[in-house]
Amino acid sequence: MNIQEIAKLAKVSVSTVSKIMNGKDDDISEPTRKRVLKIVEEQNYIPYAKYRMREGMGNRLVGLVISGENRYYGALVAMVEKALQERGYRLVVDTVWGMDQEGLEEAVEQLWKRGVIGVLVNAAFAVSHLPENCKAVYFTETEEFDQRQQNTFYFQKYEAGRLAAEAVLEKGHTKAGCILLETEQDILKGVEAAFRERQLPEGNLVYYLGKDREDIREKGTAFCMANDVSAMICGNPEIVGMALEYAGKTGIRVPQELSLICLEEQDVLEYMAGGIASVKYPLQQMMTSAVHHLLQMIMEKKECEIARKFHPGLQKRGSIRRNEEGQRGGKIVVVGSMNVDIVIEGVRIPVNGETHIADNILIMPGGKGGNQAVGVGKLGGRAYMVGRIGKDADGKMLFKGLTDCGVYMDGVEFDDQLSSGQAFVHLDREGENTIVVYRGANGSLDGAQLERHGEVFQNAKYCLLSSEISMETIRAAKKHCRINQTEMILKPSALEEIEEDILEGIDYLVPNEKEMEQICPGSLPLEEKADRLLASGVKNVIVTLGKQGSYLKNKEHSIYFPSAPFTAIDSTGGADSFISAMAFSLSEGNGLIYSMIYATYAAGITVTRYGVQEAMPDKKTIGIYMEEIERKYKEIKETIGRREQEK
Ligand code: RIB
Repeated sequence: MNIQEIAKLAKVSVSTVSKIMNGKDDDISEPTRKRVLKIVEEQNYIPYAKYRMREGMGNRLVGLVISGENRYYGALVAMVEKALQERGYRLVVDTVWGMDQEGLEEAVEQLWKRGVIGVLVNAAFAVSHLPENCKAVYFTETEEFDQRQQNTFYFQKYEAGRLAAEAVLEKGHTKAGCILLETEQDILKGVEAAFRERQLPEGNLVYYLGKDREDIREKGTAFCMANDVSAMICGNPEIVGMALEYAGKTGIRVPQELSLICLEEQDVLEYMAGGIASVKYPLQQMMTSAVHHLLQMIMEKKECEIARKFHPGLQKRGSIRRNEEGQRGGKIVVVGSMNVDIVIEGVRIPVNGETHIADNILIMPGGKGGNQAVGVGKLGGRAYMVGRIGKDADGKMLFKGLTDCGVYMDGVEFDDQLSSGQAFVHLDREGENTIVVYRGANGSLDGAQLERHGEVFQNAKYCLLSSEISMETIRAAKKHCRINQTEMILKPSALEEIEEDILEGIDYLVPNEKEMEQICPGSLPLEEKADRLLASGVKNVIVTLGKQGSYLKNKEHSIYFPSAPFTAIDSTGGADSFISAMAFSLSEGNGLIYSMIYATYAAGITVTRYGVQEAMPDKKTIGIYMEEIERKYKEIKETIGRREQEK
């Protein structure tokens, strides 16, 4: 490449290129100068020895000062060398043992004498006296440096520790072990912070800081693992190996009884015990950026940045299992919709031809299926979601909302083509609502997906079905339920009419008054309509009546239940809350009458707050009303007893 070609590529005159190369570029604008230098650099154009020498670029050598004790010494040197070679530069390494100001200055000085054009320094503090014109970029694994310090690239091992701990805590583990080398206090601090945030007692984190490999093998693994932990955070793959060895000897199954995560990604983890999850340090991104930045500083003669932070990431593998301890009741599968709810709050719900100004718009996670699964999860039950969401931000938000509430998401798939479902909820000032649902990805949940996740139905006690998904999918779900002797609870919503075979064999049908009207149109009293449904093969008909409570009809009973003493501000999802709480209570072995009272309170609490999933009660909240629930149960039992005597 000659100067004419460089000028052509940069769309400038030859004399402009010449001026820049000769340093006589005061009248050239900064963007033009940058553009030309970028092309010179990319094309490896080196005819101007004078320019290169003047700029300290004579021999295209770059220095690296690195601690010999750095655990990633080899990997870091290789990464820097590769990044430099790709840009036509060579690497000179100076290894130091023990990091102090004097040692660093000496190392940089030596490299400078050997003709490097700049240095990368593995230290958290800047070198006080750099040779004149010597550019330096720092890289480190801690945030403990003067934040005004320029040109420093870093990530925090603290953050890595925190990420690993969060990965196990999120899966319901409350007691974990952590084995690190004693030089890794930073990581431990991150792990401790995650445990503190969850307000877990101090003793729930059992840690060991080993002097070396032998120390950990002799004492560390036994110390942590004999402490009845359900998860282990291991500092590196060798420690994972030791944990696996200990587990093998003591008969602990990984991951069924012990989840594992490693604080250092290595390929070998892929092959250990079927794949060990890890935290990946951002070494590659950090070093490539540091190299590019240093070369840019040299080329463009400027110090650009202060510190730039990189973040560790999670490498997911199957070694972290959900900890079921603390969850109660039988397995509940939920097959249904997940939507983003757009709640439009106004004076009243508009009718034909009206235009209203909204008081407020709220965006919240919803969908009958998602709501029901969250309802079960929040009460401490075992909810397994089967559904479909879009591969979009809404989908991610919905997925996270459910996992945060302890719902198992094995049966959930992301749709490549369709966006996540949406529901437009009109809410009036009395708390009443109407809903229009756009199915989106929910519409493509089909029998094939259920087949792919058939194991989710195994041992399931209850299956919650709702009809914002296709009838075919409900039929397919019913098939799985029959095979697994799973009782079915169906919420018949968003229907114009219902085909008879859908109702056949349903254990609990839970419509509201409007839905009851759609399924059984006509002027018959509610009790008689319920009888008709029983005749078409439903075992229990439960009609939710809003402020009026609910009604149960089955072979033995015809009972009205009063509502709970709460004032509704948003009735959306009240029935989802009712159904999930009823299913949870039934799955714990309680009877239907008790479960309906429990469900009435759960729904009552839900409608006192906006939204659905956030509004649903958790164990603690419903716990406040347990005495009242027991009292109501006694009263209703007594009424039933009296009625039976009167018969
Ligand atoms: O039952 C309430 C739900 O119905 C809302 O969350 C909305 O998404 C619709 O599915």
